[in-house]
Amino acid sequence: MTLADLATPALVVEAAALESNLATMAAALPGPRLRPHVKAHKCTRLATRQAALGHRGFTCATVREMEGLARAGLGADLLLANEILDAKRLFGLARLDARVTLAVDSSETIAAAARAGLREVLIDVEVGLPRCGCPPDRAGALADEARRSGLVVRGVMGYEGHVVGVEDRDRRATETRRSMELLLAAHAVTGGEIISAGGTGTFDQNTWATEIQAGSYALMDTAYERLGLPFVCALSILATVVSRRADWAVADCGLKALGMDHGNPRIDDHAVWFCSDEHTTFGGPEGAPPTVGVGDRIRLWPAHVDPTVAYHEELHVIDGERVLESWPIDLRGW
Ligand SMILES: Cc1ncc(COP(=O)(O)O)c(C=O)c1O
Repeated sequence: MTLADLATPALVVEAAALESNLATMAAALPGPRLRPHVKAHKCTRLATRQAALGHRGFTCATVREMEGLARAGLGADLLLANEILDAKRLFGLARLDARVTLAVDSSETIAAAARAGLREVLIDVEVGLPRCGCPPDRAGALADEARRSGLVVRGVMGYEGHVVGVEDRDRRATETRRSMELLLAAHAVTGGEIISAGGTGTFDQNTWATEIQAGSYALMDTAYERLGLPFVCALSILATVVSRRADWAVADCGLKALGMDHGNPRIDDHAVWFCSDEHTTFGGPEGAPPTVGVGDRIRLWPAHVDPTVAYHEELHVIDGERVLESWPIDLRGW
């Protein structure tokens, strides 16, 4: 099979770029120093590659991701780095053939975990990103409460999500340090062996966490590309030019195939004008006309990998024009 055989829009990954990203990260953060976040690729075949390189613990954002990894035999040590209150889903999690650790940040999430029969938790601490996580000075009391409820507290997690995309490397380092000081102070009172934090943008700067939760590094996107990290953009969307006027061309890939919260995708040697539901309209650089015609195939490089992947059912692994394999994006949904 070749690229010409794929129906568009199609999610494709360059095999060599993917392998280079995986190998670079495995060398920097070997084995359990990395707990890859699967939300970035939602693909058990890709997770299997990460496990083969020595990363046997995974970070998940959804129950579906936990269930899928367990079913694929990748359940050695799964962290659900997210708060869950749904009793039915928690009950299912507790019965997976996997080691399950759950993030908790309140009395309610602790009680729900204990009631469902879950055994291990991390205290989720807010370290500057106004999302989940308890205030750092609540972590000790929550750890005590969890232990009183019969749960094992394996340590803390605290995701510095407000820092990972900061373009200036020095500022990224300073802000990571500030966040991790909060997490270490919380850890001093919770105990446990795990300090879980970090992402692709801070993978080599967060030296305080015992494990880094990076996920985007494997496929990458144009937002992370700006940071000058040692990972290359491996993921693009193959699209077909379906309409052409004098000044612009239109590709059959729009908002419903692209995560747009980090901005427009890139089209090499062209300037993206805008994306709509099913289309991307683009011109040439600096007002020049596009150099493609109706029927041509082009690549769009997404600005945000996670939501882009979640729109697609398959990830085609390619080498130049050849399609080597097609991997199901089998961890989608909640
Ligand atoms: C809890 C958590 N940890 C880690 C990450 C790291 O992901 P990335 O590799 O995209 O920086 C994310 C991404 O949003 C996250 O939500």
